[in-house]
Amino acid sequence: MPRRYTSFWSLPSGEVRNSMAENISRVQTHISGLDDKLSGGIPEGYNIVIWGSVGTLKTSIAYNIAYKAAQAGRNTIYFSLEQVSSVLCQQMTMMGMDIKNVEDHMTVVDIGALRRATHILEADEPMDIDWGKVVLNHVMALRESKKIDLCVIDSLNVFSMFTPKEKKRSILFHTFRKMKESGMTALFIVEDDDKSGNGNSGVARFLADGSINTSVEVKGRTTTRLLQVEKLRSTAHSTDFYPLLFDKDQFKILTK
Ligand SMILES: Nc1ncnc2c1ncn2[C@@H]1O[C@H](COP(=O)(O)OP(=O)(O)O)[C@@H](O)[C@H]1O
Ligand SMILES: [Mg+2]
Repeated sequence: MPRRYTSFWSLPSGEVRNSMAENISRVQTHISGLDDKLSGGIPEGYNIVIWGSVGTLKTSIAYNIAYKAAQAGRNTIYFSLEQVSSVLCQQMTMMGMDIKNVEDHMTVVDIGALRRATHILEADEPMDIDWGKVVLNHVMALRESKKIDLCVIDSLNVFSMFTPKEKKRSILFHTFRKMKESGMTALFIVEDDDKSGNGNSGVARFLADGSINTSVEVKGRTTTRLLQVEKLRSTAHSTDFYPLLFDKDQFKILTK
């Protein structure tokens, strides 16, 4: 059987590759300045990890993406596994995103709602529950009934909190595969300030189609929020760290 080689010379030219990247349907990040740098946004149906330390705007960025997608008529679901949904929605309303405006297209599900929907009793010990499986089953059921286009899981830390370390890898692998097969765009938030790749986000970043890092740079007593697109398949992009601002209900990066 002859072996087949893909010649370097047979790869599409830069110009053709750029036009291929532009022809992919994308979900806008609505971070001003960033979408232009990503050929329009995140490719539809991709698994994206948004990771970084606490307070670096991960939740706000993901909520903003889901909210704006819902405004554009896409069906979105936000799993708020860390915060009660009423508190999250109130916080987001203060940032100019009132869930009432997108009720027909966006649902926020917290642990309480998840327990009710899946008949898990409050009395059941949280550590006896495989939250990863519960979330996945629930989102797949909703996918059938509501045709969900975009799903946010906030956060993966809770998702696998009670899972033994050796099982975490296979659970993540299974979750990413199922999400990908479903065709939904999925945003997974991971709380992690370990840049070595050995922290909470390491395996997820390796498995995902894209990875966005949010961090804080400290100079003396001044801090600057930064955003970096670490990886995004099918997209030619820079891996620069851009200052990230939230101003007048709008996210933006400073590109120069
Ligand atoms: N209305 C607002 N305008 C600007 N920044 C805000 C506003 N409300 C909250 N923040 C900032 O957002 C931060 C929390 O963002 P969040 O998205 O929850 O971060 P993370 O999910 O990374 O922990 C707060 O620490 C605060 O500095
Ligand atoms: Mg958060």
